[in-house]
Amino acid sequence: MNRKYLGYLFEVAWILPSVAVPIAFLVAIVITAFVVGIAVPGNVGRVDPKALSTTPPFDKPGLRELAPGRYEAVVTAQLFNFTPGELEIPAGSKVTFIVTSRDVIHGYKIENTPINMMVIPGQVSRMTTTFDTPGEYYVYCHEYCGGGHHLMAGKIIVTPAKTASANR
Ligand code: CUA
Repeated sequence: MNRKYLGYLFEVAWILPSVAVPIAFLVAIVITAFVVGIAVPGNVGRVDPKALSTTPPFDKPGLRELAPGRYEAVVTAQLFNFTPGELEIPAGSKVTFIVTSRDVIHGYKIENTPINMMVIPGQVSRMTTTFDTPGEYYVYCHEYCGGGHHLMAGKIIVTPAKTASANR
């Protein structure tokens, strides 16, 4: 085998993966977009961040009971706090958090729960979880949003369920 031929072989050995890797990435993007349904935010769930005070549900932030044990928590994030800052939820409740920002990108993370969202102005973030264990859950902003970022926190107080015999 002459040296020139070996050189070509070596080149091909590198060209093939350098073509295959981007193709694999492209296939992964297509699968996540069309099979798994992961997509960048669309127009669904868009709000005008400057008009939140007149845009339902953000005109009335807070906790709403939809059905026994089923709640919706509407929260706005702004420099450098959440409205409402504290929420009281009975243990065993299933809560859907509906969160948006008034100004810049924030985060909404509730410790010891799967709730972990980016909060983007103009975009509505939504996530549901069930609170089984009574206690205090620290809520914090985990996207750097400015000088008061480290102070941007809230609290969720999960109170013991009313009575063990309550019908659900
Ligand atoms: Cu809001 Cu960091």
